[in-house]
Amino acid sequence: MRFPSVAIVLPFAGSALAWGALGHRTIGAIAQNYLTPATTQWVTSLLGSATLLDVSTWADDYRSTAAGTFSAPFHYIDALDSPPSTCNVNYSRDCGSTGCIVSAITNYTSRAQSTSLSTAQKTDALKFLVHFLGDITQPLHDENIEKGGNGITVLWNGKSTNLHSVWDTAIPEKYVGGNTATYANNWAKEIIAKLSTGGAYASSLSSWISCTNPSTAQSCAVSWATDGNALICTNVLKTNPAGQELSGAYYNAAIPEVERQIAKGGVRLAAYLNTIATGKASILEEEDGGFEPITAPSEEN
Ligand SMILES: *[C@@H]1O[C@H](CO)[C@@H](O)[C@H](O)[C@H]1NC(C)=O
Ligand SMILES: *[C@@H]1O[C@H](CO)[C@@H](O)[C@H](O)[C@H]1NC(C)=O
Repeated sequence: MRFPSVAIVLPFAGSALAWGALGHRTIGAIAQNYLTPATTQWVTSLLGSATLLDVSTWADDYRSTAAGTFSAPFHYIDALDSPPSTCNVNYSRDCGSTGCIVSAITNYTSRAQSTSLSTAQKTDALKFLVHFLGDITQPLHDENIEKGGNGITVLWNGKSTNLHSVWDTAIPEKYVGGNTATYANNWAKEIIAKLSTGGAYASSLSSWISCTNPSTAQSCAVSWATDGNALICTNVLKTNPAGQELSGAYYNAAIPEVERQIAKGGVRLAAYLNTIATGKASILEEEDGGFEPITAPSEEN
């Protein structure tokens, strides 16, 4: 069931969408690549034949149903910092009484592992985690200012839009060309290559998954939110984008950061799910004195 009053809901809707379908799907496809066989088995027990890519946008659809309205604040944390001079996240200051992405990750981490909830409830918990570990890497989901940039009017190819939407969708789609599963799988393959030995992200990988233990869900989620929020000062609002055309120089500065955030979301999600399913914290295995990403035994489509 859709909200009957679109005019009232629309101004706020974008603030919770986070990455558009492309970002979420790519994070799902990256994560799927690094699941251990035992994790794949656990994921399959909850999702059936659906992949992490397939379920990655479910939480955005769910929040716009009457039954899912309660979950809208779970897609972000409204950091009350002072960008661009000061960026920080403080859980007790920023989470809010109706919950935020950090409390939601904590909640759905425990629900996904519950021995008393139904399979359907655990399936929802897993789908929420797949989405929120993506959302939390979108800097404007870790920021309060102007409703996560929804209130900052900017230009994209000469057309008026808002800063939040540019980060969700316009920047990644300009780079990749579209948002379907095919585009997402292709982008995921490029990112996985950069994560592999000799790739541009190889040396960052272990730090990106350094806090991925579900038993410390809240502090890890705060650290992920803090990491995304830092980009507000160093990139997103470094120069005031209001009223500016963002498809040129601004895009060029943003796209490397966007790809790194998507990469982080993917490897963190894999490491996190691997720990939930197997108790082991890593997506890496030691090889020749270095660490190599564990790649899945079977290539998904
Ligand atoms: C976080 O916010 C709380 C509540 O506003 C405040 O008491 C605390 O000092 C803040 N912590 C830090 C490290 O700034
Ligand atoms: C935890 O998740 C359940 C199921 O979606 C929800 O009803 C509950 O409000 C959540 N609790 C918190 C503290 O977020």
